[in-house]
Amino acid sequence: MHPTTRRPILAGNWKMHLDLAAGLALASEIRNRCSRLRSVDVVVAPVALAVYPIAQRLADSHIGVAAQNCHYAARGAFTGELAPSQIKDAGAGYVVIGHSERRQFFGETDEGVGKKVRAALDAALVPIACIGETLAEREANRTLEVVTRQLDAAVAAVSKDEAPTVVIAYEPVWAIGTGRTATPAQAQEVHAAIRARLGERFGRDVAERIRLQYGGSVKADNIAALMSEADIDGALVGGASLEAESFISIVTQTAELAQGRPS
Ligand code: PGA
Repeated sequence: MHPTTRRPILAGNWKMHLDLAAGLALASEIRNRCSRLRSVDVVVAPVALAVYPIAQRLADSHIGVAAQNCHYAARGAFTGELAPSQIKDAGAGYVVIGHSERRQFFGETDEGVGKKVRAALDAALVPIACIGETLAEREANRTLEVVTRQLDAAVAAVSKDEAPTVVIAYEPVWAIGTGRTATPAQAQEVHAAIRARLGERFGRDVAERIRLQYGGSVKADNIAALMSEADIDGALVGGASLEAESFISIVTQTAELAQGRPS
């Protein structure tokens, strides 16, 4: 059972999908049907250009908005990039950092992810830092080694006081967009290792407060089993977050499970 101190967090990663009208409609639907659910944090991550209008649409709700990436510098000559403070300015409260698609296609490095996490905290954004092994790494029994290396780099510049703010998303690359979810037991094994490592770095009490999301083919029909694992505190949802019904079902089921916990 999760300690009640860890409030589940569900984030919809819309990636490079949805035009503005569709994003606004989806945001409205989520706001209308999830705002009364107070036991979970709900976040949507639209394309950067839609962060401002979506944040406006959600302004009277507790639904958060995330950007999908940021630069690590506070300002400067970095054509095409977004500073964390500019993302904050547009109304976002969160930023996804180091998603495997960015690592795979856009050359993101472990070190860069650490710098971006630091920059996000400096701008008072909640970083959702993504880590996860490829299929080849899993098959070579290197999962924990890879995840630990990525984790250490992601939180390298985070202080003990800041650590509980950070969200870590464990997303095995082989489970993203493939329909192949890690089993709850496989995910829990890695989540427990992540929490243990965070405990070595920040102390056990702090590690117990850090939220660990699972991501990779999360759907309405597997969220409950995933959330029943002790160290899974939410989900980063791709494909299933693009449809109101599936995302709202994921949120609603998680909220019901959270409410059912002993206080
Ligand atoms: P998926 O994507 O749910 O479509 O597998 C998850 C993610 O990439 O964050």
